[in-house]
Amino acid sequence: MRNINYLIFTFLLLGTFSCARENRAIVTSPDGKIKVEAGIEEGKPYYLVEKGNKRIIEKSFLGFILKGNDSFNKDFTINDTEFRSFSEKWTQPWGEETTIDNTYHEMVLHIGEKSGQKRLMSIIFRVFNDGVGFRYEFPKQPNLNNFVIMDERTEFALVGNPQTWSIPTNHTNYFEHLYKKAPITSLDTVSTPLTMEVNDSLYLTIHEANLTDYAGLNLTTIQGSSTLKADLTPWSTGEKVFAKTPFKSPWRTIVIARNPGGLMLSRLMLNLNEPSKITDTSWIHPGRYIGIWWGMHMGAYTWAQGPKHGATTANTMRYIDFAAKHGFSGVLVEGWNVGWDGDWSANGDQFNFTKPYPDFDILKISEYAAIKRVKLIGHNETGGASKNYEMQLDSAFTFYSKYGISTVKTGYVNPLLDHKEQHASQYGVRHYRKVIETAARYKIMIDNHEPMMPTGLQRTYPNLMSQEGVRGQEYDAWSPDGGNPPEHTTIIPFTRGLAGPMDFTPGTFKFENPALPKTHVHTTLAKQLALSVVLFSPIQMASDMIENYEGNPAFEFITSCPTNWSKTVIPQAIIGDYLIVARKDRQSDNWFVGSITDENARKLSLSLSFLDKNTKYKAKVFKDGRLADYRTNPYPVDIEELEVNSNSTIPLILAPGGGNAIMITKI
Ligand code: NOJ
Repeated sequence: MRNINYLIFTFLLLGTFSCARENRAIVTSPDGKIKVEAGIEEGKPYYLVEKGNKRIIEKSFLGFILKGNDSFNKDFTINDTEFRSFSEKWTQPWGEETTIDNTYHEMVLHIGEKSGQKRLMSIIFRVFNDGVGFRYEFPKQPNLNNFVIMDERTEFALVGNPQTWSIPTNHTNYFEHLYKKAPITSLDTVSTPLTMEVNDSLYLTIHEANLTDYAGLNLTTIQGSSTLKADLTPWSTGEKVFAKTPFKSPWRTIVIARNPGGLMLSRLMLNLNEPSKITDTSWIHPGRYIGIWWGMHMGAYTWAQGPKHGATTANTMRYIDFAAKHGFSGVLVEGWNVGWDGDWSANGDQFNFTKPYPDFDILKISEYAAIKRVKLIGHNETGGASKNYEMQLDSAFTFYSKYGISTVKTGYVNPLLDHKEQHASQYGVRHYRKVIETAARYKIMIDNHEPMMPTGLQRTYPNLMSQEGVRGQEYDAWSPDGGNPPEHTTIIPFTRGLAGPMDFTPGTFKFENPALPKTHVHTTLAKQLALSVVLFSPIQMASDMIENYEGNPAFEFITSCPTNWSKTVIPQAIIGDYLIVARKDRQSDNWFVGSITDENARKLSLSLSFLDKNTKYKAKVFKDGRLADYRTNPYPVDIEELEVNSNSTIPLILAPGGGNAIMITKI
C-alpha cells in the first residue's frame, strides 16, 4: 500500500501570515474560519483560538516546569516565526473512510529565554478547517540536553461554562467508566478526549495525537474556573517525562465542530500522526470474529484449568466450525496458555506465552483452522507484568507465526504495570509502543486491552487494529452496578470513540446472566445489531456464545455487517440521546446504517440522500418489534425489505433502549 496517496502541494510561505506586532503572530485555517494567535506576554508564551471572530479559547499560557523547580515558561522572547502550508490526501489500509484529506496552515514560533541559560523551544501550530493541533519541540542546544519534565503548563481557557462529558482520571480503572455530563467548572481531573458543548452550534474535543515517549495527558481545572490545565500521568517517583534533546511533545488537539457528528468525522488526530512505517500492509486484514470469551465472563467457562475450562481442543474446533459456517474471519481463544491458575492478575509474571495447556492441542487446532479457512486469534493476558511480556515477545510472536496466528489480543489486568507504574505513564507508553513495533516486525495485528488512551498511532502502525480503554459490553455480564445504562453507547462515540477504534464487543443475543440476575444487557436486540455499525472497530468480535446465535434470523445482520468502510456519514446525533451512523462497505457499494437511542423511545426519520443518485437499492431493515423495551421485552426484532433510492426516507421507531439496523444493497 502506498500510504501517501498523492501530495498536492507543499510550500513555504515565510512571513505571509505574520502580524505587525513583533511579540505575536497569527495563522488561520485554510478556509479562513479558524484563527490562532500566539505570542509572548510578559515573557510567557500563550495562544488563543477564534472561529468566525468569536473566541473559542481565551488567552492560554504554555510552557513547562523542569526538575529542580526550573521554570521553562517565562522570560521568553520570539526569535523567529515560520509559516508553511500543506495539503495531501492519504489512504488508510482500513478505517471509517478510504481517503483522508490532510490540509493545514502551520505556524512555528521559535522562542528563547532572554537571559540566564538562554534555552530554546519551538511551538508548532497546525490549523485545519476542523480544529487546531500544537506541540512543543526542544531543539538540540548547549544548555538543554537531558531534562526532566515535572509539569506541563499547557492551558485551555474555555469561554463560558460549557457542558462536558468526562471520565475521572482514575489510574486504577483503565478508562472503564461511565461518562458524566457536567459543566466544565465542576470538573476535577479528567481524562481526554474531553468533549464539550459550548452552544448548540459549537462542539469541542480536547485530546492529544502521537503520544510517543511521553506521559499521557489528563486535564484539570484551575481553581473551579473554565480554564483547563494539562496534568500529565506521572512515574511512581513523581517525574512526568524523562527527555533528551532534540525532543518533541505529542500534539495537543482541539477539534472544533458545528455539531456532534462533525466531531466524529474529524480526522485531525490521524493527520497529526506520522505516515505508516509499514510499507507492505497486505497482511493486515479487518474482520469480524467470534470468541471463547463471553462464556468466561458469564461464568459458564473458566480461563483456568478444570472441569469448565473453555479453551479446550474440542470447544475450539466447535467454534471454528461455527465461524466457517457463518463466514467469520477468526476465533479468539482466551485461557489457552499457562498462567491462569490462581490469582493471575496479581501474578502476571507466571504467564507463559508459548506454553499451551495440555487440553489445548495447538497443532491439531491450527491445522483444522487452516483447512476451514478460519484464523485463530491469540490472547496474551499479561496481568500487567509488562517486563515478563517483553522478555517473551520475540519467542511468542515466532510461535504464533508458526501456527498461522496473525492477530493477538493483549491485556493488562492490573492497575499498575509491573506493580509500580501507571498504564498511561511514560513507562507504559514505552511498553505499548514496543509491543506494536515488535508485532509489526512479525506481521502480527494487535487488539490491546487495558491500554493507554489511544492517540491515532494506527496511522503509523496500522497493525494496531483496536483497543479497549472503554467500559465495554463485558460489564453487562458481571458489573455489580447492573451493567451499562442505555445512554452509555450514545455518549462513547463522541468521547472515547474519538481517540480511535474501540473494542466494545457488541453483538450479544442472550441478555440474562443466571449467576447474577441483577446484571444484564440494557438494550434491545435490534440495538445490539445497530451497535455493530455505530461503534467502529476494524476487527470486531460478535460477543456471545455461539449457541445463543443459532436459529435467530437477526443474526444475518451480524454476519453481513463489514468492519471496514470507504465512507461514513452521521445523519443525526445528539450526545447522550441518540445517533444514526451510515457507513459504506470498503469492498462493495452496500451501505449499513445503525441507529440507537438511550432509555427513551424515539421516532426519527432517516433520509437516504447519501445513496448514489438514480440508483435502485434494496433495504433490509432490522427494527425493534412491537412493544420492544430494553427493560421488559428486549428481544422482538421485525425484519422487513423495502425498495429505496436516494430520495427515500425511512421512519425509525426506536424502543426504549432500542435501535435499528439496515443493510442497503444495490439492485
Ligand atoms: C479484560 C479484558 O477486557 C477481557 O476482554 C478479557 O477477557 C479479560 N481481561 C481476561 O484477559
